[in-house]
Amino acid sequence: MLRFNTQSLLRTSIATMKAAGKSIGLVPTMGNLHAGHLSLVSAAKAQADYVLTTIFVNPMQFGPNEDFSRYPRTLAADIDLLTQAGCDAVFTPSIEELYPQGLDRQTRISVPQLSTLYCGKFRPGHFDGVCTIVCKLFNMTMADTAFFGLKDFQQFFLINRMVADLQLPIRLVGLPTVREASGLAMSSRNGFLSPEQLKPASGIHATLQHIGGCLRAGERDFPALERQALESLQAAGLRPDYFHIVDATTLLPASADSRKLVLLVAAHAGNTRLIDNLQVQLHGSDLPLQPVCPPRRLL
Ligand code: PAF
Repeated sequence: MLRFNTQSLLRTSIATMKAAGKSIGLVPTMGNLHAGHLSLVSAAKAQADYVLTTIFVNPMQFGPNEDFSRYPRTLAADIDLLTQAGCDAVFTPSIEELYPQGLDRQTRISVPQLSTLYCGKFRPGHFDGVCTIVCKLFNMTMADTAFFGLKDFQQFFLINRMVADLQLPIRLVGLPTVREASGLAMSSRNGFLSPEQLKPASGIHATLQHIGGCLRAGERDFPALERQALESLQAAGLRPDYFHIVDATTLLPASADSRKLVLLVAAHAGNTRLIDNLQVQLHGSDLPLQPVCPPRRLL
């Protein structure tokens, strides 16, 4: 596997591949790779001729009191995993390479309104940081297709909006969340969890499943279901930031007409902030007349 640290070496290699008619598949990551990332590499290998993974812990997407400095950095292990996975190249730039003018002078990309909802409300500026770095990576790599995990549902939605709004010539693929046996979504932050925090953390998925079941069974009182979910997260020993039932086609709060829903959640286990989601497809004809799901403790 090739490794580049600079934009100019990366661009030279990409230009050679493009000249040979090869399609480029991009897997943008912040490293500390796990099975979720490797599923993206594997999809990229199936759909592109040349697979490039980027590893860059992007300071612009972390708030001042967030975990940028302690975010896990495991480059040697990541390179081994990518080599075994058959990735063709990895781009591991420094902060100076990507932000030569410094963060404050960097032009930013901001998707209006939707960037301030849900995670954006609790992490102001986070999605501007994500969209800015992702757009720069798209430009530098000239990728034909980019692969993202759907655990970050809001992130994937916003990147799609950015690509549409800026008419960027790239195809986006979102892949299902890979989970531990407990249901906990794989995340680079799971390594921060103590053994005692792992069980409560799995309550996030259990809560999503339960509320998803209620919706599928015909419950339509969204505020009541959101309250019930927050209570069950708290009962599991978590500190939820939010639990929202959202229209998956607009990312706005679900309405009575919404048919494709996504349940979005963020909750803290100790000092570790975890996010997850569940997509729920409703079929109008299935609806019973009465609410059918009484509140229930999950753990
Ligand atoms: O999802 C991530 O790991 C990051 O937000 C991304 C897309 C690599 C941008 O830094």
